[in-house]
Amino acid sequence: MYPPSEDSYIVLDIVEKVEAKRVLEIGCGSGIVSLALVRRNTEVVAVDVNMQACRNTLTNFKRNRLQGVVHVVNGDLATAFRDGVRFDMIVSNPPYLPVEQSPNEDPSWAAGKDAAFSRRLLENVLPLMADAGILFLVQSSLSDVDGLKRTLEEKGFLVEEASCKSFFFEKIIVFKISRKPPNPL
Ligand SMILES: C[S@@+](CC[C@H](N)C(=O)[O-])C[C@H]1O[C@@H](n2cnc3c(N)ncnc32)[C@H](O)[C@@H]1O
Repeated sequence: MYPPSEDSYIVLDIVEKVEAKRVLEIGCGSGIVSLALVRRNTEVVAVDVNMQACRNTLTNFKRNRLQGVVHVVNGDLATAFRDGVRFDMIVSNPPYLPVEQSPNEDPSWAAGKDAAFSRRLLENVLPLMADAGILFLVQSSLSDVDGLKRTLEEKGFLVEEASCKSFFFEKIIVFKISRKPPNPL
């Protein structure tokens, strides 16, 4: 299971400043981001494909006697949700390294070529974003961030950098994705 790391704290720093009533986190890992949001009485749906990550999130929620509500879902992205569910904020620190996933390997890192994992994630979760909703997505400069950004802009989304931090061999970027406001008449 993915332990809280530099990128987890970068995301945390951003999402803790945003007001949202219903939040979806894809890839909750240890639960660090979801549980910080639950502390503020937000209703959070935390999803992870890794059962151990789901158990860890739920155990930490109970152990800390938090006030809010967390629903923990063991599943692939948002494929478990019915049509019409909407979230004010969606957050994901997904696997983002441009390598292929090996069988039996922890699914926390490998994203495939051309930001393949994030492309599938976006197709899957963007329909769940409320009209005025926002999505925070972590990416590495080692992956095809420009191509991903271009695709989103072509589909009518506004893509901004909420944070960008340089590390030894890469930059960790958090994109803030929202729907473009309609052009004035
Ligand atoms: C980089 S870790 C981030 C964990 C945590 N959010 C954090 O910031 O510390 C990525 C997480 O995505 C999960 N994941 C990978 N593929 C997934 C999928 N198809 N659906 C849901 N979660 C997935 C992994 O199990 C892992 O917990």
